[in-house]
Amino acid sequence: MSILNLVYAPSKILEKKTEEVKFIDKSVKSLVNNMFETMYKYNGVGLAAPQVNQSLQVFVMDCSNKDTEYNPTVLINPKIIKQSNTYKEYEEGCLSFPDHFIKVSRPESLNVNFIDLDGNKKEKFFNGFEAVCVQHEIDHLLGTLFTSYLSRLKRQIILKKMQKFKKNLNKSI
Ligand code: NI
Repeated sequence: MSILNLVYAPSKILEKKTEEVKFIDKSVKSLVNNMFETMYKYNGVGLAAPQVNQSLQVFVMDCSNKDTEYNPTVLINPKIIKQSNTYKEYEEGCLSFPDHFIKVSRPESLNVNFIDLDGNKKEKFFNGFEAVCVQHEIDHLLGTLFTSYLSRLKRQIILKKMQKFKKNLNKSI
């Protein structure tokens, strides 16, 4: 297993719709393992394939309290089939936007169709913090970033800060 390079915003790949996974082969399994490794290393609760430069419909997440237990979850080709009418607001973070937190209002619960790492079709109900995470990650697969829920002005402020962050990152290499 290895730690993958994170893609930071702004980046074209983060704003592109991802491709469906056709076969769960060795390369997909190894991508998933490396994504878990990378997510845990950076203390994330979710990580989508475009964030590690792969434009594929894959994301990993673990919303558990990692002090006592782990709950690694992988969703491949996820599709939302039902969402609640009630909304809830959470403050979200994103590994592609270090140190930025944004309040986003999303449906409180949802049902998702997906395939697991063994290629089995599944349907699962998510609520609470897991529902937030699943929706944030599915957005990534559609090329939608959490900044799209902000006003244009606030979005531009974050964009400028991220451009500066990336510039400094390049300087330090
Ligand atoms: Ni994110």
